[in-house]
Amino acid sequence: MPTPANNPARLVVLVSGSGTNLQALLDACEDPAYGARVVAVGADRYDVEGLARAERAGIPTFVKQVSQHDSREAWDLALTRAVAGFEPDLVVLAGFMKLVGPDFLTRFEHQVINTHPALSPSFPGMHGPADALDYGVKVTGCTLFVVDPGVDTGQIIAQRVVEVLDDDTGETLHERIKVAERQMLVESVGRMSREGWSVEGRRVRIG
Ligand code: GRF
Repeated sequence: MPTPANNPARLVVLVSGSGTNLQALLDACEDPAYGARVVAVGADRYDVEGLARAERAGIPTFVKQVSQHDSREAWDLALTRAVAGFEPDLVVLAGFMKLVGPDFLTRFEHQVINTHPALSPSFPGMHGPADALDYGVKVTGCTLFVVDPGVDTGQIIAQRVVEVLDDDTGETLHERIKVAERQMLVESVGRMSREGWSVEGRRVRIG
């Protein structure tokens, strides 16, 4: 059972974009009672707002671009080493738009979590909100899960439901999902940090 070795728990957050989920974690970590702190932020690209948010908060950052490596495997190993150097209790993929590979998942088994803007197992992949809208569902939402080698297929930690409105576009729906996603992430990461968690088969239990 992964129980954080550190108090507060050490979080490494990986981003690819605007980093609003990262910001929600940074804000939560300002309260010592939250039980976690962000020790580093990594990205797969330069010049993203997520990295700027970390820099403004005085948190170390690093970038590992796939194109800077000879192979996907070499990139995965470099990313694994960079993250391992910060000795995380939990690795949070917060809008990180790459699939991590076998080295990464072996090194951090059951310690890597990701958010997806749909209710898994429906609508995996890059276009969860638009796919849900196109299908015509009346409710969708977001899912926090333990990362496995698949695309949004890992064990579910938490989910939140968001109603689809008649005049929604993919963008308006995604923005409302992201509000729920940030709350879900902050609440779950706090509980996992303070209470530990276990993974048995498809089931995740916090505490
Ligand atoms: C989130 O909805 C995440 O689930 C999806 O991309 C969005 C990232 O948002 N993969 P942000 O970068 O945290 O603002």
